Amino acid sequence: MPETTIQKGQEIELTIDSLAYGGRGVSKVDGYVIFVKNSIPGQKVKALIYRKKKGYAEARPLEVLEESPHIVSAPCEHFAYCGGCTFQQLDYAEQVHQKKQHVEDLFRRQAGIADFTIDEVIPAEKQFNYRNKMEFSFSNRRWTLPDEGDETERSFALGLHVPRRYDKILDINSCHIQPELGNEILNTVKTKARELKLKPYDVKTHIGFLRHLVLRFGHNTGDVMVNFVTSYENPELIKPLADHIHAQFPQVTSIINNINTKKADIAFGEYETLLYGEPTITEKMGDLTFEISANSFFQTNTKQGANIYQAVLEGAKLTGKENVYDLYCGTGSISLFLAKNAKEVHGFELITSAVEDATRNAMTNLITNVRFHKANLDFFFKKGKSHKDLSVPDVIVIDPPRAGMHKDMVNALPRFDAKRLVYVSCNPTTQSRDVALLIENGYGLKKLTMVDMFPHTPHIETVGILEKN
Ligand SMILES: C[S@@+](CC[C@H](N)C(=O)[O-])C[C@H]1O[C@@H](n2cnc3c(N)ncnc32)[C@H](O)[C@@H]1O
Repeated sequence: MPETTIQKGQEIELTIDSLAYGGRGVSKVDGYVIFVKNSIPGQKVKALIYRKKKGYAEARPLEVLEESPHIVSAPCEHFAYCGGCTFQQLDYAEQVHQKKQHVEDLFRRQAGIADFTIDEVIPAEKQFNYRNKMEFSFSNRRWTLPDEGDETERSFALGLHVPRRYDKILDINSCHIQPELGNEILNTVKTKARELKLKPYDVKTHIGFLRHLVLRFGHNTGDVMVNFVTSYENPELIKPLADHIHAQFPQVTSIINNINTKKADIAFGEYETLLYGEPTITEKMGDLTFEISANSFFQTNTKQGANIYQAVLEGAKLTGKENVYDLYCGTGSISLFLAKNAKEVHGFELITSAVEDATRNAMTNLITNVRFHKANLDFFFKKGKSHKDLSVPDVIVIDPPRAGMHKDMVNALPRFDAKRLVYVSCNPTTQSRDVALLIENGYGLKKLTMVDMFPHTPHIETVGILEKN
């Protein structure tokens, strides 16, 4: 580890070389790493060191001495406080470049995986209004801005979490990464809920009614779902709000009430009731049609989701004779995408409603060579457990949540002896960890493809192709 004379409280001139995951600038002084808040590559800043640790220090900029050639003005009024789009000040080409550097660093340097090819990132054509799902939180603990006076009302907010504050919500008027209709619904819900005197849920005392507002959009169909997550069921309270949204927005095709009575702060209920319209929304991707329930996973950027599936299809190299497993299959989109090039596909998924959606989606699309199984993959294939009624897979597609695969699942994978694994991930940190373990167990990483699903955020999706040695 490099020695350093840098001290807490020191003011220092730094040149920002790159971005760390999460969006902070990175500067190196004689090999010693300094993370600088609110800075972008190419800037030279005067910064104050406010924390010093053994391997790194943290600083905040006091003054920009030289501006970066990559700076652009952030269009969002909430940019300075909202933790969502931390890259908004960086031009898009540089965002994509930084994401690629980050993935390469994770795989090549940190995980020690050297011998694979990496494509250029597939960029997003649409860099704003691209999300087909947004989750907002109601709160009685509104984050107050520095220029707001003492009289400001703090007891009602509908918006997004302030970074690293589970209890504070930044009131949002306009979010640039959701469709404009989403902003109109958000503001109408906010005004009407206050007029009706509905109480936001308090995450500390667990008292209050309104917890989350989840919006879903069928970008290729025009369907819109409004999902109110409440802490208990009370039709008398929620119905006037739902009626108002129905009257104001006739294009809304589905209004749902999810009831989450648990303390966990998630926009997901133990059960749901239908307040208006259809229980699902429909979305189209390529020539496939998907019905999606409020709680089922569906790729959040429809256009870039299709690019991911195309990369999966190319990587899987199917000839029509293969048995395919689609692990963590959600509403079955990858299974259905691959089905016409495979002999049969088995999808595995934890959430019951997603398995039901997947089965219905297969029927809607007249696809008969797929089967979906409800399974907790943390232990479903654990050593000693095999599923003899299922055909042995030739190709396995894996698309786990951000935490990656459970270690028992990673260890069970080589036992199938599949010739090819296609590992889709929304978190290259956990993906590189799992891939390193698969490499120890007889697989080689051949290729990584990256798809930018979420412009202006640090996130990047990766598709890794592994083949048996
Ligand atoms: C990133 S999503 C992938 C969905 C799907 N492949 C797609 O493209 O739409 C991850 C999925 O894993 C499911 N999941 C999470 N933990 C699981 C577990 N332990 N066992 C099975 N499925 C799980 C989630 O419900 C979610 O549908």
